[in-house]
Amino acid sequence: MKKSSLIKTGLGFIIILLIVIQFFDVEKNVAIAPSENAIEKHYSVPNPVQKLLKTSCYDCHSNTTVYPAYSNIQPVKWWLADHVNSGKRHLNFDEFNTYPKEKKLKKLDEIAETVRSGEMPLTSYTLIHHNAKLSDAEKAEIEQWVNEVKKHIE
Ligand code: HEC
Repeated sequence: MKKSSLIKTGLGFIIILLIVIQFFDVEKNVAIAPSENAIEKHYSVPNPVQKLLKTSCYDCHSNTTVYPAYSNIQPVKWWLADHVNSGKRHLNFDEFNTYPKEKKLKKLDEIAETVRSGEMPLTSYTLIHHNAKLSDAEKAEIEQWVNEVKKHIE
């Protein structure tokens, strides 16, 4: 086979593959009802903090993701589902109250740490969701709130 026809066959194969994977669906992370175990039902979450968490964290750390339009395209759907599943496994604000005391305290510390270090929200996320980026003042606000909640964990 000539080199050019090899390239054409390769491209044709990739296009067919891209079409085929569009038919693979992924279950979306959208809760039908609010969770009884949501952190705000058991601990005080002031409105400004709740807003920060919803904007910067909830797409990956709650039972409901707000999906952008491009998320309906594969392989983006798989990639996002992977992030959401992994994020929820590490921390789910909507299931926070199901955690035992030690885990609650550990997760709260991790929230403060990952926010302070800029590890969270993920850079791949803030590149697209500019409003999810946290200013120094907002990071301090979250840390202050974490310290307040820790006092009420028993
Ligand atoms: C785009 C998805 C996404 C967003 C947005 C996001 N996270 Fe994460 N988060 C993850 C993933 C995925 C993990 C799993 C571990 C990893 O990949 O670092 C994680 C892990 C964590 C952990 C556990 C860290 C550990 O060491 O186990 C904490 C705590 C956390 N995130 C807090 C937050 C907070 C707080 C925000 C908002 C300020 C946030 N995340 C925003 C995806 C996200």
